[in-house]
Amino acid sequence: MYTTNQSVCMIEGVSVRELQATYGTPLYIMSEPELESRLGLVRSAFLDKYPNTYALYASKAMSIAAVYEKVMAAGLSIDVVSRGEMFVALHAGVPADRIHVHGSNKTVQDITFALEHGITHFTIDNMREIGLLSGLAAQHDVDVDVLLRIVPQVVGGAHEAIQTGGVDTKFGFPTHDDTYLEAVRATLEADRLRLQGIHCHVGSQIQEPTLFINTVKTMVNFIETIRQQTGFTADVLNIGGGFGVAYLESDDPLDFADTMTQVMDTLIAEVNRFGLPLPKIGIEPGRWLVANAGATLYEVGTVKEVSGVRTYVSVDGGMTDNIRPALYDAEYDVIAATRMNEEKTLEAKIVGACCESGDIISNRSLIPPVEAGDLLLVKATGAYNFSMASNYNQMLRPAVVFVKNGTHRLVVRRQTLEDLVVCEVVGQSS
Ligand code: LLP
Repeated sequence: MYTTNQSVCMIEGVSVRELQATYGTPLYIMSEPELESRLGLVRSAFLDKYPNTYALYASKAMSIAAVYEKVMAAGLSIDVVSRGEMFVALHAGVPADRIHVHGSNKTVQDITFALEHGITHFTIDNMREIGLLSGLAAQHDVDVDVLLRIVPQVVGGAHEAIQTGGVDTKFGFPTHDDTYLEAVRATLEADRLRLQGIHCHVGSQIQEPTLFINTVKTMVNFIETIRQQTGFTADVLNIGGGFGVAYLESDDPLDFADTMTQVMDTLIAEVNRFGLPLPKIGIEPGRWLVANAGATLYEVGTVKEVSGVRTYVSVDGGMTDNIRPALYDAEYDVIAATRMNEEKTLEAKIVGACCESGDIISNRSLIPPVEAGDLLLVKATGAYNFSMASNYNQMLRPAVVFVKNGTHRLVVRRQTLEDLVVCEVVGQSS
């Protein structure tokens, strides 16, 4: 994906200087081949390899039409957690029957929007939603397919903010008491709800296959307890997302294909142990599909050497297009994209243009000495960067381009200054 031509970094054969000249900076760049190859691996190592499986793209990672197009072509469906994500997906042409609604606090408006648009796959998170969904489905005269999200009591994830599987969580039906069994009974009795099975998500950015193995074992145990206690046998088991990626070159990322083999071997062994039928198994990767396909291009502005302390290199974006270092202490590899052949002798803190000291891209990067006008490239920014971007300090959200075989195309335009005021209601003061 990355090559060098005369000290300038090329992504899929496109020079970063050309991208800068065409679209400006900061700029999100997505490699189409990388995205396609990851979608292809989900097919070959999971969907095509095992019958009775399904995969959802956790669209919160990057919910734009150009990504949906690739996801649809690869035969995956998507999960959404708000009517905003539903709207964007429908607008992009994602068929309603390939949209699955998740979320821990679905509103009447969310559910109504879904039902009115023919979206009928839901993962129910809590008791309130059972009645709410049942009532609204009856009102709309539709049957809905539901999974119950239960707490697996398996904790994973690279940072506290992205761990979800433990007992103390806002997500899902508790399993340390009988809440999940009551939920099964209530759903079976509820009008218009067709209970399909159970769902969980232990956390995000998981690098150990063992966590997925333990999740499968635990969930099959719950399937068996539910069968014994309620007579309901789950047809579907969704084990969530969370597949970890390499952010730094030195990271040792999860091997997706190997993990899926272990997951399926475990599943088969566990259901056989209990004499259960093999459920349809689902996964919902977000980050793993898009993170490494993405990179962010910035132009260097101020280079400030604070004597005896450190050198700050400021770029023209920052926490508005990458909040992850501030939120999760996330680390990134930063490349001096216009000095690829030069020696890395500058240890610098790479910071953004926002008015706060937490506006950091990288606490410590070793790069060649750069000056205003140089370009920096931050790798592995395809997941949760565009989708968590903000307009803090009224910075403009960057454009997104797709690159492939030496060509580039705009898929999301950069915000304009006018975009910043479209929601303002002015002239009302008396
Ligand atoms: N399924 C459920 C129910 C989820 O809650 C999530 C992520 C996923 C799937 C996808 O997880 P993934 O495969 O992308 O790890 N903003 C954070 C990540 C929050 C993830 C929330 N849920 C970040 O930038 O790291």
